[in-house]
Amino acid sequence: MALGVGVMNNPAVYRKAKRVHVYDLFKAYEHQVANLFPKMGVTNIRVGDDFSHLYRKHVEPIKNALSVNVGDIRDVQWTKADIEILFMDCATTPNISVTILQKFFPFLIPGLSLVINQDFFFERAWWFPYMAEVFSDFLTPEYAEDCTLVSKCVADPDLSKLDLDGDTVTILQAMERFAARLDSAARQKIQLQQAWFLCERGEPARAKEIAARILSHPIDQTVRYRANNMLRFIDSART
Ligand SMILES: C[S@@+](CC[C@H](N)C(=O)[O-])C[C@H]1O[C@@H](n2cnc3c(N)ncnc32)[C@H](O)[C@@H]1O
Repeated sequence: MALGVGVMNNPAVYRKAKRVHVYDLFKAYEHQVANLFPKMGVTNIRVGDDFSHLYRKHVEPIKNALSVNVGDIRDVQWTKADIEILFMDCATTPNISVTILQKFFPFLIPGLSLVINQDFFFERAWWFPYMAEVFSDFLTPEYAEDCTLVSKCVADPDLSKLDLDGDTVTILQAMERFAARLDSAARQKIQLQQAWFLCERGEPARAKEIAARILSHPIDQTVRYRANNMLRFIDSART
């Protein structure tokens, strides 16, 4: 929505029609069915149903700026044009993230393009800070807030460098190096991502150590809540 409004309202954008390309499955998931849709007065959509008609209604005022594509982003063949702003908000697994990188990153413009990574600091999304470090030669973090990271593309990407199945120590160290570029609030969130990464790799005891270390420092309420949640998750998985 924000990108579309920007295109429509910015007099410097001369070609507005279908300037923003939107990709989503538009299949309702549990959170939407339980919380979002009822708040909008919509009660007849079940998990898995198509809700693209609701989206189209919502974006009606800016529809001319959009090219809306329903389906799996992994099936997209982007060959169109260079990309000025890549806004990622569907990279919910490492596999989807890598596919987005492979398909869209080669079209970023060094020195100009911005990558907006929504949910970058989501506690289970350990692969974002790892990728950000691996690509630090061509993506520079510009701004971190809440759950989002905005980076600028400064050189052509070398996508061959990424190994999401790499050894645990290498990935943890890369996450650590990336965290060192950010402020202490962002560093704490990345520590929590390291802990979840260790859980995924079957090392809950080390994950607990990290969580305990995070909790022993003065921290943001949300990070505290999430670290405690993770500890509860590990303990309940053991019983
Ligand atoms: C956190 S929601 C964000 C949705 C939207 N950007 C917003 O702000 O409301 C994540 C979105 O990713 C989409 N998604 C997940 N996997 C996808 C895939 N493989 N291809 C396209 N979209 C996908 C989901 O349908 C969901 O709408």
